[in-house]
Amino acid sequence: MHGKSWVILGMILFAALAAFPFYWYAVGEDNPFPQLEMPEGAKACVEKTPFMRANHMRLLDAWRIAVVRDNLFLYTAASGKTFEMNLHKTCLGCHTSTEKFCDRCHTYNDVTPPCWECHVATGVGKKGEAS
Ligand code: HEC
Ligand code: HEC
Ligand code: HEC
Repeated sequence: MHGKSWVILGMILFAALAAFPFYWYAVGEDNPFPQLEMPEGAKACVEKTPFMRANHMRLLDAWRIAVVRDNLFLYTAASGKTFEMNLHKTCLGCHTSTEKFCDRCHTYNDVTPPCWECHVATGVGKKGEAS
């Protein structure tokens, strides 16, 4: 008697797990990709948009290493334009709301970069804070 109910419980669990991708799909339907606030005054990012979408974290990491370790300040993009390698001044200079741009996409993708513990997110930095 007991042995049999365990088998049934096991079958229910298996069915639930096997259907998991379908639930996941349903969750996706309820959770559409958020509207990101794009800069008004600029048409292009530092590098091409698909590159930025896929590689902005690597670019930021490279910038941090260049600034902090190698004392370099300027980045020359593929377009030939130069940018100051600064998270606050450069990235947030165009993407003025971290909340309506970075955070919206990060929340959707379930990532929480730890940058804002030290770097000023939106608005003007205070003296003594990492910019
Ligand atoms: C000169 C202004 C400017 C600067 C500086 C800038 N961006 Fe952008 N960024 C834009 C614009 C404009 C777009 C949208 C381009 C388009 O419509 O294709 C964009 C797109 C992006 C995207 C892709 C969004 C998407 O649709 O998937 C990411 C990610 C991004 N930027 C991150 C950054 C980061 C990180 C930095 C700093 C390293 C940065 N941006 C610096 C103007 C800028
Ligand atoms: C279009 C979506 C999108 C936008 C807009 C976006 N990000 Fe991201 N970001 C991601 C995704 C997805 C990841 C995780 C990628 C991975 O894990 O490989 C990520 C990862 C990161 C990471 C690395 C985090 C870690 O813990 O490894 C940093 C740093 C980062 N983003 C900074 C920014 C900043 C700053 C902005 C705004 C200027 C921004 N992102 C805008 C999608 C986005
Ligand atoms: C523990 C504090 C702390 C955290 C967390 C942190 N940073 Fe920084 N970061 C600093 C300090 C301090 C500097 C040096 C500022 C200077 O030299 O002006 C710096 C410099 C940088 C620079 C180069 C110059 C600048 O001010 O933008 C970049 C780019 C950068 N960090 C990116 C990031 C990113 C991306 C994250 C999140 C993944 C991050 N940092 C997390 C403290 C931090």
